[in-house]
Amino acid sequence: MKLRVSKVNIGLKSFVFFLLALGYSATTLFAQNNGESLFKANCAACHSTTSKKLVGPGLEGIQTKRSKEWLYKWIQNSQELIASGDKDAIAIFEEYSKIVMPAQAVTNEEIDLMLEYIANPPVSAVPSGNGTSDNSIPVVKETPLWVPILAIVVLLFIIVMLNMVYKSLYQVATSKNNN
Ligand code: HEC
Repeated sequence: MKLRVSKVNIGLKSFVFFLLALGYSATTLFAQNNGESLFKANCAACHSTTSKKLVGPGLEGIQTKRSKEWLYKWIQNSQELIASGDKDAIAIFEEYSKIVMPAQAVTNEEIDLMLEYIANPPVSAVPSGNGTSDNSIPVVKETPLWVPILAIVVLLFIIVMLNMVYKSLYQVATSKNNN
């Protein structure tokens, strides 16, 4: 009886642990998507994540060019930063024929997410391979293969865990009845 109860405990504990792990990876995935969708919704009309100029400059490597504080101020209100006499702000404004970048209603945290996305652009944008004999690493495009595989593994894991929990509970229940 004691043994069975602890079995149930182990089952539940690993199940809870598994849920936490799943929640954690889901939030990490969500954070990436969030940076991407924020950028696409607010900035992509005028900026690329590469060095390519659109309406505004390409933002590749922007974090090595500008400080975080500068970026927060600029993105949230570029005109205010220009008016404050910031030399870099004035220079880039003049370089782009004084096109006004509209103030963006985004928080520092959202800017962090977008900067993260700019620093890690979509995998398909990375040049594929170096053309040498190193063909063992498959080139990942659009949807990476691990997504469906992970989904299947997770599903199997849930089924196995639920089955374990169910079996242990069933054993406890029947052994109680027998007593
Ligand atoms: C309507 C077009 C437009 C939108 C939308 C826009 N920008 Fe800009 N951005 C510009 C222009 C144009 C410049 C060049 C400076 C100027 O003319 O004011 C610029 C400059 C910048 C710079 C400075 C680049 C450098 O080299 O110093 C950063 C950083 C920047 N934008 C980030 C963003 C981010 C992040 C967003 C989205 C939240 C965004 N921008 C949305 C037009 C835009």
